[in-house]
Amino acid sequence: MRMLNSLSIPPHLVEVLPPSATVNEGGHLEIGGCDTVALAEEFGTPIFVYDESFLRARCREYKEAFASQAVPGTVYYASKAFSSIGMLQLAAQEGLCVDVSTEGELGVALRSGFPAERILLHGNNKSDAELDLAVGAGVGRIVIDSFDEIDRLHDLVRQRDAAPVACLVRITPGVDAKTHRYIRTGQEDSKFGLGVRNGQALAAVKYLATFDTIDLQGLHCHIGSQLFDLAGFREAVDVVVDLAAEASTAYGAPLHELNFGGGLGIAYTRDDKPVAVGVLARLLSEEILARAEVAGLQAPRMAVEPGRSIVGRAGVTLYSVGVIKELPGVAKYVAVDGGLSDNMRTALYQSEYETFLANRPEAELDSSARLAGKHCETGDVLLENAALPSDVRAGEILVTPATGAYGYAMANNYNMVGRPAVLFVQEGTARVVIRRETLDDLVSLME
Ligand SMILES: Cc1ncc(COP(=O)(O)O)c(C=O)c1O
Repeated sequence: MRMLNSLSIPPHLVEVLPPSATVNEGGHLEIGGCDTVALAEEFGTPIFVYDESFLRARCREYKEAFASQAVPGTVYYASKAFSSIGMLQLAAQEGLCVDVSTEGELGVALRSGFPAERILLHGNNKSDAELDLAVGAGVGRIVIDSFDEIDRLHDLVRQRDAAPVACLVRITPGVDAKTHRYIRTGQEDSKFGLGVRNGQALAAVKYLATFDTIDLQGLHCHIGSQLFDLAGFREAVDVVVDLAAEASTAYGAPLHELNFGGGLGIAYTRDDKPVAVGVLARLLSEEILARAEVAGLQAPRMAVEPGRSIVGRAGVTLYSVGVIKELPGVAKYVAVDGGLSDNMRTALYQSEYETFLANRPEAELDSSARLAGKHCETGDVLLENAALPSDVRAGEILVTPATGAYGYAMANNYNMVGRPAVLFVQEGTARVVIRRETLDDLVSLME
């Protein structure tokens, strides 16, 4: 149990902050032994701050939970959630594999020194350049997403006279995951994968059997993201295992590698109740074993690709409060020095967050305000109804917790705002893993 000193993290924030979060003697939020108000002063705002020990702990938790199941499991960190050299080095050190979905993500993984054989490449529209980079580097897996890609991959392997590439076929299992429609991917009309019900997935497997340049290992699916209900995973297992058994016969070799993508949800607010990693690992293993026995699939192995549930809770964003505007009888706006450019999630998915002030985390949240960014866009609202102290003032440091996933990853330069810096903090020390983007950086691209 958390030790309660006279100053402590309010209970509703405990689950949305990394476990090292405390309130220090100065009354400030501390993460990884670093005073966040001091970090804001030293490195500026907005800024992403990650608890490095917690990132490592999540990697280990995943690795151990999946390694210890009856069906052995491999964990690929989904780097789309947060890609950087520092993060990929950390994931490699913790023994994870990595999933990348573009040339850029693949390039970052390779430049971080990530062993190529532990990299898996995704993408519904991979270019020849992406495929060629992957084949040339010797990545461990390519996930095939279309018929057209099979032909192109075959040609590239031939041209390079490379060894057969190990692949999976991405299938759409026809599962409607319970989450926002923009992050649902397993349903029939998804742009990803090849359908099971329409016969395209099996047809792709049969087609692949005619190529000696591609070594089909198994099947892949990803049903959606930010999931709390595991029923969709169970349904997906049944579809994938049945298809793998049928497809093994069609292919003439066992397709026993079954990859279920990512998707485990995290707590953004006090109302979110995430499922433990071990529960997902056990459910997948048990369901695969039971279904494989019925379907006659030999020695299945599983894989997952968590992104959000590894990095989400480890990171917070710190902003400086700027203009506060009362619209009498309408709304109160509290504006911060970031917004749409560092957090697209609220505009894309109407995401909710808790908020509080790093310089007085225990202050009573006795009023509500519209938390706005600084961009020239009416939709640049981080939260419609942010609970904040009624006396919040300019210069205070506002925190949005659980912004470690799809925050920096989706950051952009709208209004020529440079992307924030990213810090890893641990045992009282902060290190810059991504420096702040400057006007010089932006202008350097322009003729
Ligand atoms: C194929 C694939 N794998 C893994 C992930 C990671 O999902 P999450 O961050 O929800 O774990 C995604 C997310 O979109 C994905 O599309």
